[in-house]
Amino acid sequence: MKIGVLSDIHEGINRKRTGENILPIIQNWIDTNKPDVFIIAGDISAKPQKALTLLKQLRQACSPTKILFVHGNHDVYDESSVNAYETLLQFPGNLGNGVVKLNKDWVVIGDGGWYDYSYGLPEYTTDDFKKGTFRDFTWPDKTYAHWSESDQDVTDRYIRKLSYWLEKHRNQNIIMVTHFVPFSRFVEVKNDPGWDFFNAMQGSSVFGDLAKQYNIKKYIFGHVHKRYHEQCNGMEIICNPLGYYPHEWTTGSAEEEIASAIKMITI
Ligand SMILES: [Fe+2]
Ligand SMILES: [Fe+2]
Repeated sequence: MKIGVLSDIHEGINRKRTGENILPIIQNWIDTNKPDVFIIAGDISAKPQKALTLLKQLRQACSPTKILFVHGNHDVYDESSVNAYETLLQFPGNLGNGVVKLNKDWVVIGDGGWYDYSYGLPEYTTDDFKKGTFRDFTWPDKTYAHWSESDQDVTDRYIRKLSYWLEKHRNQNIIMVTHFVPFSRFVEVKNDPGWDFFNAMQGSSVFGDLAKQYNIKKYIFGHVHKRYHEQCNGMEIICNPLGYYPHEWTTGSAEEEIASAIKMITI
């Protein structure tokens, strides 16, 4: 079984900046390469309704391929992120709806997740991260995402949900997916407090702890706009964002960049 993986498509920004229609390029890639499953690990767009429209469009255009999705932070930018989360569950391939069985041995378990400041620098307080402002920059989620609970409580909710599913499927081969980062080594430390302060908003080490505890075979995430693909103690770890044009792209062509960003894995 072939599984295509991509995250951080940021359709609106990349379409406007490149002047190219991003979604049909992804559709073409899927048509040509014919993966059985295509997993999008969050940040497809900047609003839940838009994300839902794009996902439905992709599903219709690529019907032989099963499209799976977890939300990113940008996908829940809304007056109510809880409502945004619910809206996105209308997409049947949203992993927040439940475990997806691929065959008798393999399942996919995931949800977008959030962050609990576990990658934050120790010299700052929880209150500092809660405000999310360093010098004159405020982390955009603080302005555009609106949960009714604290970041830690939001993260805890995901952890409880994922733990429940993982426990139920512990004897199967599991592909785990979150948008947010499960292991601290994928959080870039630049020794510049203007950057490192915001590492608090990159993910939660508990996602990684769960992955180890349940012997996850493959872990897919996004959010950090840097590509990783490695094997570690029997776990294949993939982070392959498209990222923002132009500074995060390695080519000038949307078609080439999308083709180089998508990772095809097999089970
Ligand atoms: Fe992103
Ligand atoms: Fe993100």
